[in-house]
Amino acid sequence: MDKKNGQLRMVSRRSVLGGLAVLPAAAAYALDAAQSPSQLFLRDAPPITSADQVLNVMEFEALARTALPPAHFGYIATGTDDDRTVARNHDAYLHYEIRAHRFVDVSGVTAERTVFGAKWPSPIYLSAVSGQRAFHPDAELGTAQAARSRSMQMMLSCVASTPVEPVIQARGAPIWQQLYPTDDWNVTEGVVRRAERAGATAIVLTVDSQVGRGYTRNNETLARAMRIDNRTCTDCHVNNSHDPVHRAPMFEGLDVSHVDALAPPNITPQYLDRLRKLVTVKFMVKGVVEGEDAALAVNHGVDGVIVSNHGGRNEETLRATLDCLPGVAAAVGKRVPVLLDGGVRRGTDVFKAIALGATGVGIGRPQVWGLAAFGQSGVERVIDLLNRELLQIMRQAGTPTLADIKPTHVMASTWR
Ligand SMILES: Cc1cc2nc3c(=O)[nH]c(=O)nc-3n(C[C@H](O)[C@H](O)[C@H](O)COP(=O)(O)O)c2cc1C
Repeated sequence: MDKKNGQLRMVSRRSVLGGLAVLPAAAAYALDAAQSPSQLFLRDAPPITSADQVLNVMEFEALARTALPPAHFGYIATGTDDDRTVARNHDAYLHYEIRAHRFVDVSGVTAERTVFGAKWPSPIYLSAVSGQRAFHPDAELGTAQAARSRSMQMMLSCVASTPVEPVIQARGAPIWQQLYPTDDWNVTEGVVRRAERAGATAIVLTVDSQVGRGYTRNNETLARAMRIDNRTCTDCHVNNSHDPVHRAPMFEGLDVSHVDALAPPNITPQYLDRLRKLVTVKFMVKGVVEGEDAALAVNHGVDGVIVSNHGGRNEETLRATLDCLPGVAAAVGKRVPVLLDGGVRRGTDVFKAIALGATGVGIGRPQVWGLAAFGQSGVERVIDLLNRELLQIMRQAGTPTLADIKPTHVMASTWR
């Protein structure tokens, strides 16, 4: 029997080798041992022409790069300094392994989560991404329609190309309004009141963007991309302008003549108190990375904390948000939801963030890669892929609900 099997193997191997002369493609696969089969098939695959052909979120990055002019792709991609914090946000997920448990009934697996009384199909939400008209003509309306068709929570950027009212209409449900408070309180107040009037159910104060007059973010990747992109393309920018500070649609009708910066340099506890008094809906802070800051914000009345470093765009701390999460979650101690964004590209990433204490998980770049590549259907595919992968790993790990995912379902990787 063994001998027969051995002969069979020999025969089949000889037939493969014999086929090499007439099948040059097969020869390439056999000889190029340095590359994985998956990379080889990717290299030779026919072009992707619709969103449903895309296999994973990272493939959308390459598609967006092809679809967009260099400066617009550079705007999405850029980090600050050497972009190492961008990379670490993503790579941090490789430092955790998932511990899968058998003998659990996972027939009713569900990733549903309730956040501020709203039922989400999964813990994933669309985080704020500014100026989406630079990525697709449908801009924020395309994203909102995708969010609607998939019942996803959407957070609208304060410097979006589309203001809050039509976005809420396209979403068909309340959104969260991200807030760059500006250094003029009257403008801050105007934006908050307008968003609340339109029906936003949360105001999300971004606290990791200290960009004032005379200070620029050191976005070198963007600067390089702009150097090789000499088009004049302001028509695809926010209100046909490179000046979101004064021309953002959310600032229309407000006197922005005194605004120098999208954030005052004094976001102190007193500032939180002042804003807390103004905001009548849920109030969150986005961009917290240390436990003591999270505890301070909760003590000053915020309803939620978002662990974020702006996708590594504003600071080169080298601290991945996933590594910041346990400290923040411990300091908050379940008093309010703790959300996280940064580097989430797989359902397994979402699983790990949930295990380490996140209530919800935001995506920034993936949604606009999808938008740039295929408009609404691209964003939908990004959402579907992540949700499907999350459910898959939940089944595999023996965790039928998000509440079943415990810190013990992940362990620090010992792999070298
Ligand atoms: C092109 C781009 C624009 C962004 N605009 C905003 C913004 O206007 N306000 C904000 O709070 N965060 C903004 N972010 C940060 C995201 O909300 C989110 O924190 C970050 O992208 C998460 O990391 P990820 O891109 O790795 O998913 C932006 C991110 C990108 C990529």
